[in-house]
Amino acid sequence: MIVVSAASGAFGRLVIDRLLDRCPVGRVTAAVRDPGGAADLAARGVTVRPGDYDAPQTLRTAFEGADRLLLISSPELDPSRRAAQHRAAVDAALDAGVGSIVYTSFLGADTQADGVTAAHHATERTLTASGLPHTLLRHPFYSEAFINPGLRDAVASGELTDGTGGRGINTALRSDLAEAAARVLTEDGHLGRAYDFTGDLWTYDQLADTLSRLYGRPVVRRDRSGRAPGAQGWLEEQVRGGALERQTGDLRRVLGHPATTLDEAVAAVLAPHLSPAPPS
Ligand SMILES: NC(=O)c1ccc[n+]([C@@H]2O[C@H](COP(=O)([O-])OP(=O)(O)OC[C@H]3O[C@@H](n4cnc5c(N)ncnc54)[C@H](OP(=O)(O)O)[C@@H]3O)[C@@H](O)[C@H]2O)c1
Repeated sequence: MIVVSAASGAFGRLVIDRLLDRCPVGRVTAAVRDPGGAADLAARGVTVRPGDYDAPQTLRTAFEGADRLLLISSPELDPSRRAAQHRAAVDAALDAGVGSIVYTSFLGADTQADGVTAAHHATERTLTASGLPHTLLRHPFYSEAFINPGLRDAVASGELTDGTGGRGINTALRSDLAEAAARVLTEDGHLGRAYDFTGDLWTYDQLADTLSRLYGRPVVRRDRSGRAPGAQGWLEEQVRGGALERQTGDLRRVLGHPATTLDEAVAAVLAPHLSPAPPS
């Protein structure tokens, strides 16, 4: 049996979808903080069990009988609390006799013990210390932080504003990362490995070009004056400093095919909101 924790989130739901393409529904269990919010999964025949990172006693029962567990990292922002939640999950997995763990880590967590990777770094060490066979899926930032329905404003105004300084961005769509996770959970040969997943590099100039071509209206990229508010400003600063330019072949290798292209990603995200240009 494959148990997916935090299965009610955006990534978890995509993993469940991809697992159901690859194995019988009776093999898939969703562990969720609030089973009431996962009635749709239960309606599809997925076993739903309570599993709260803050209530370790629920985790042992949630993981019972799993030969493979996908431990999806918690959205908790405080690194010590987040690392403690993950430690509780690993302890519960040991206690429940889980066969192996696949953990959604983050790029750089192997070497960076602070900042956004602090809890991931600690969890990778917890997994090593546990002695449990495991696989690390180090994710990049999700493309959806940049490629989202907000882009329809750029198509409408003809201007795409950003603060990335034209640097490359190695994000990947949740859907590609979910397919990779489903493959790792259902194939042999992944235990003991650490994958550094990156999408193919793209830039805001390319994004403006994609929007222009797909929607048949000129979209021009402009530099933002000042910093974007909140998390977007921080993220753009990371891009401008070149922090998102690392490239590996791991995602393509695990998928067995190239990741979704920029054109495909934009078309998929904006399809419900905009009509594409007629073919020329
Ligand atoms: N790579 C990136 O760019 C990126 C960006 C954002 C987040 N992340 C990380 O990737 C994970 C998955 O991303 P996502 O987009 O699927 O996030 P999401 O949609 O916010 O889902 C988060 C999931 O965590 C669950 N959760 C929250 N607290 C929990 C607890 N105490 N015990 C058990 N489950 C708990 C939520 O359950 P409820 O449904 O009950 O709320 C939800 O299922 C996030 O949790 C975060 O660690 C990565």
